[in-house]
Amino acid sequence: MEGRILVKDRYFVPYIPYERLEKAIDAVAERINHDFKHFNGTPIILCVLNGSILFTGELMKRLTFPCEFSSIRLSSYEGTLSTGVTRKVLGLTSSIKGRTVIVVEDIVDTGKTITDLHALLLDAGAADVKICTMLLKPDVYKKDLKLDYVAMEIENRFIVGFGLDYDQLGRNYKDIYILDNSVEKTAMKHFLIFGPPGAGKGTQAAKIIDRFGLRHVSTGDLLRREIAAGTPLGLQAKTLIDKGELVPDSVVEGMIASELDNNPDAKGFIFDGFPRTTAQAEHLDAMLSARGEKINAVISLMIPDETVFERIRHRAEIENRVDDTKPEIIRNRIDTYHAKTEPVIAFYKGKGVYREIDGLGTIDEVFGKVSALLDEYLPA
Ligand code: AP5
Ligand code: MG
Repeated sequence: MEGRILVKDRYFVPYIPYERLEKAIDAVAERINHDFKHFNGTPIILCVLNGSILFTGELMKRLTFPCEFSSIRLSSYEGTLSTGVTRKVLGLTSSIKGRTVIVVEDIVDTGKTITDLHALLLDAGAADVKICTMLLKPDVYKKDLKLDYVAMEIENRFIVGFGLDYDQLGRNYKDIYILDNSVEKTAMKHFLIFGPPGAGKGTQAAKIIDRFGLRHVSTGDLLRREIAAGTPLGLQAKTLIDKGELVPDSVVEGMIASELDNNPDAKGFIFDGFPRTTAQAEHLDAMLSARGEKINAVISLMIPDETVFERIRHRAEIENRVDDTKPEIIRNRIDTYHAKTEPVIAFYKGKGVYREIDGLGTIDEVFGKVSALLDEYLPA
């Protein structure tokens, strides 16, 4: 096994040598062979591309009962709000109607992908779906779905090799490597701009990206983009947003995961309007810590509810947001903030990263305080 390796712009150090992976695959294959020895039919071994390609190959060599091979890929996020399923299967290479499917995954962390896939396969008519994963992160796996075959459990760290990638690179290493956190300069720095509706999150975020070069991601803006494009997700999100209600956690979590995956070169992110529930905060924490990253600071803009009303009424004259038009919708957004989003403050206080800023005063006055705070983390 090589020593430290450079994958794109990050260093990784040895974690699991190939010999240990082989032994774990031997053991899991033996369990599957035992369970399927007298199986009446031909199960489909379903490789979830791209990550599990090497694992599936190694596993199939060891299977001793008749089986077929098929593969799929999942879209980053899509689908309906009602089911909470946020992904779509792309390119399922054979029909699974009435068949027993053994899904082969490279890694299961929070379990979102695998539970979405499990539901999608049953929807598509599979008679039975078994799950086989090479790696499991038990510390972050939160789902009830039973994982039938787990080759190896690992800690919640970002890894590459043996099919797993960092920005599509590193899959070809036969051993598994772990992100080297000792190399400080490569880690992204992430921040939240937090506060009630109309606190000025979007306004301050625009100035932050200008001055600090962080990537701005606003879940409200992303959802409005889906609405404008008339996607199924947008159409369903619209009914909730127009009432001042939150959309389901799984939808926004999928969006954030895509933003993180699609911007590996960012210096860091400024999250706006996310997380909005404690569950979202926990999910973000797990996603970032798997990458060896964290929220460095939460910048909380404090304004009283009456000011929220004033500002939103004023914005309604300039912008065209349906959720800005009626006092009862604005009131519901504020109530939703107090009931569901305010508890997020305790989560970040517990992590020692929560910072309050007075959100009253002119836009530039507020930005003066915001940038003084960010200067502590991102010195010029
Ligand atoms: P989102 O778009 O995030 O709306 P919001 O949180 O209600 O916040 P706003 O965008 O209304 O306010 P802001 O703080 O950005 O203020 P702004 O800078 O514009 O979310 C919309 C909906 O999407 C939610 O209700 C929910 O349904 C859904 N959603 C989004 N994220 C979700 C999630 N994570 N989970 C579930 N659902 C989610 O400023 C407001 C106005 O004030 C502007 O006109 C501005 O010019 C003015 N202003 C700003 N600062 C000042 C100042 N200092 N002095 C005077 N005026 C100022
Ligand atoms: Mg906004």
